[in-house]
Amino acid sequence: MAPISFARGVPAPECLPVAELADCAREAIERGGPSVLSYGPGGGYGPLREWIAERHGVDPGRVVITSGSLQGFVFLCEQLVKPGMRVLVEAPTYDRPIKILRRLGAEIVGIPMDDDGLEVDALEQALRDGDKPAFVYTIATFQNPSGRTLSEDRRRRVAELAREHDVLVLEDDPYGLVRYEGTAPSTIFDLARGERVVYASSFSKTIAPGVRVGYFVLPAALATEIEALAVSTYISPPFLTQATVHEFIRRGNFEPNLDRVSGLLKARRDAMLEALEEHMPEGAMWSRPEGGYFIWLDLPGDAPELAAAEAAGVTFVPGTDFFAHGEGGQSMRLAFSFVSPDEIRDGVARLAGALRPAPAPSAL
Ligand SMILES: Cc1ncc(COP(=O)(O)O)c(C=O)c1O
Repeated sequence: MAPISFARGVPAPECLPVAELADCAREAIERGGPSVLSYGPGGGYGPLREWIAERHGVDPGRVVITSGSLQGFVFLCEQLVKPGMRVLVEAPTYDRPIKILRRLGAEIVGIPMDDDGLEVDALEQALRDGDKPAFVYTIATFQNPSGRTLSEDRRRRVAELAREHDVLVLEDDPYGLVRYEGTAPSTIFDLARGERVVYASSFSKTIAPGVRVGYFVLPAALATEIEALAVSTYISPPFLTQATVHEFIRRGNFEPNLDRVSGLLKARRDAMLEALEEHMPEGAMWSRPEGGYFIWLDLPGDAPELAAAEAAGVTFVPGTDFFAHGEGGQSMRLAFSFVSPDEIRDGVARLAGALRPAPAPSAL
């Protein structure tokens, strides 16, 4: 029985525009010549920086393009987090930042969520009750791992709280453009007019993760500091992949590719929602995202052990991986981005089978 992976939060191979990117890479070298094949400014490839800056209505000096947005997250933490400092995160949140923050000795404070995202009253309480945090980390749209989206009202409140408490918010938004339906809420960055909010995104989900092109829009002084950290870490960014992404955009491929990818992913999301409806036991609850890669499944009892699910031929990431302090035992993250709709239907049926207690051995 071939294993079915709901663990991999990566795009299905057919989402990746292979031939087009190969062509763009060639063109990027031929057009850019030595400028894309040599060392250069730590903040990234100029024309791409300008394109990003224009989209966000800021000066290009506030944009730093990093080797994937996770690398930018590391830079930001290295700059802002000292051992013992608090960082407020959503509970649950993306597991890699939890590991990075732990490594840096941060005190990770989880703020509860509901279907409308981060609970802003709890955020306010946490801001009032303790030392000023290094920053508040939110994945406001199609969150990893829960698929939830922070409502417009709450976004406004987060922007207000950032101002009232003079605290920095990191809005990590790699999935926002991967929307299949519904209307996009404003970004917290826009609602706060770019003040006290760092906006991060990535081309990993809109073009391809292998290009490793992510970016940060920062207050000007912080941008200079992060750029210096980038230079001291890798001297110079990989201009070839950044110029390839820029060429892809310059040709007008970005939006049509996004539509294509959204169509492929919507079919997967639909297959998973239908299969959950059909197979999950009473009392199970799950998120219904309008985009992104993930569905969060809460079960009436404990989630099955990974080993039991693996034996049934399906994998997922246990909910506990997404909390700093061990909660999440009844939950799991199901990524629908990687496998086909048929595999999704099969995988959810297998998962539901792994939830049912094994029949008692026959008396005979
Ligand atoms: C919320 C979130 N932030 C950042 C990243 C990292 O993306 P990148 O490939 O740009 O490093 C991911 C990747 O899955 C993610 O889910």
